Amino acid sequence: MKSKIEAIRNQFSKDIEDAKSAKDVEALKVKYLGKKGPVQDLMRGLKDVTDADRPHVGKWINDLKEDLMNACMRSLNELEQKEESERLSHENIDVTLPGRRHHLGRRHIVNQFMDEIVDIFIEMGFSIQEGPEIESDYYNFEALNFSKDHPARDMQDTFYITEDMLLRTHTTNLQVRLMETQKPPIRVLSPGRVYRNEEISARSHVFFHQVEAMYIDKGVTFGDLIATLESFLVKLFGAGIKSRFRPSYFPFVEPGLEVDIQCLLCRGKGCGICKHSGWLEVLGAGMIHPEVLRNGGIDPETYTGYAWGMGLERMILIKHRIKDIRILTQNDLRFLEQF
Ligand code: DAH
Repeated sequence: MKSKIEAIRNQFSKDIEDAKSAKDVEALKVKYLGKKGPVQDLMRGLKDVTDADRPHVGKWINDLKEDLMNACMRSLNELEQKEESERLSHENIDVTLPGRRHHLGRRHIVNQFMDEIVDIFIEMGFSIQEGPEIESDYYNFEALNFSKDHPARDMQDTFYITEDMLLRTHTTNLQVRLMETQKPPIRVLSPGRVYRNEEISARSHVFFHQVEAMYIDKGVTFGDLIATLESFLVKLFGAGIKSRFRPSYFPFVEPGLEVDIQCLLCRGKGCGICKHSGWLEVLGAGMIHPEVLRNGGIDPETYTGYAWGMGLERMILIKHRIKDIRILTQNDLRFLEQF
């Protein structure tokens, strides 16, 4: 009996050494330890063994069974690891490489600033409406009280597409369009891109962005304009911001004014950016000219309104100490990712 057991053990040792894959080992496991295998045969043979011999013969068989089982497990482990590392070496994946960074897009710095302004005005009860960038001479100039030969047209060098069509020079173009289609109270903020036929340089570009605010109702006063502007500037630039209002001229408002804020960089001390005046010009404003209201079909005897317009790029350049406006339109991720 002992020799029979050893013969099985020896044959198994040879077989398992020849096993080349986990699959081969699984097959050996079934061959030797399965129901029709030699170990089960031995078990069945136990009944023919004498009572005196049965305990130690039983132990031999059990030891054999256990040894074969352990040998199978060991070999399975080894082969599986080998197969896995072979598979990985073919896959060409370096699992030690750091993961690739996933680039998330973000709002452009100009749009971020625009969003800030839009949010402030939504809170104040304004609706947001965008006007056309390709505009007629009428809505961009004539309806706003610039007659054909008005010298103020020269203030805004214009890209003409045809004699009557142009790229809007300001977001003020929406004013008369809105008056024609809406009844007061009208309370609108209009953000968008505007165009000027200028030499491109570090300080000026042929397109930039403006926001235009307009409020028309019965009894809107100059005091309302000043109060709204002041609270807007505080919300945008912070509680400590100082502002001043200067009389100015725009054909579509009367009276017209320009608004300065204390220089964001030197806080009023005077620096290169504010040309040593301590102040920065931020926007134009005024009470809507009666002639403009009339052009929009609104009776200036019954209604009054205020409006103002502000360019965004200049503010952004100052706020972030950017020296060249052209970088805002160059799509350079190294720049854009900083905001
Ligand atoms: N449209 C003017 C510009 O582009 C800015 C402006 C000035 C808008 C006065 C207004 C205003 O609504 O009342 O320079």
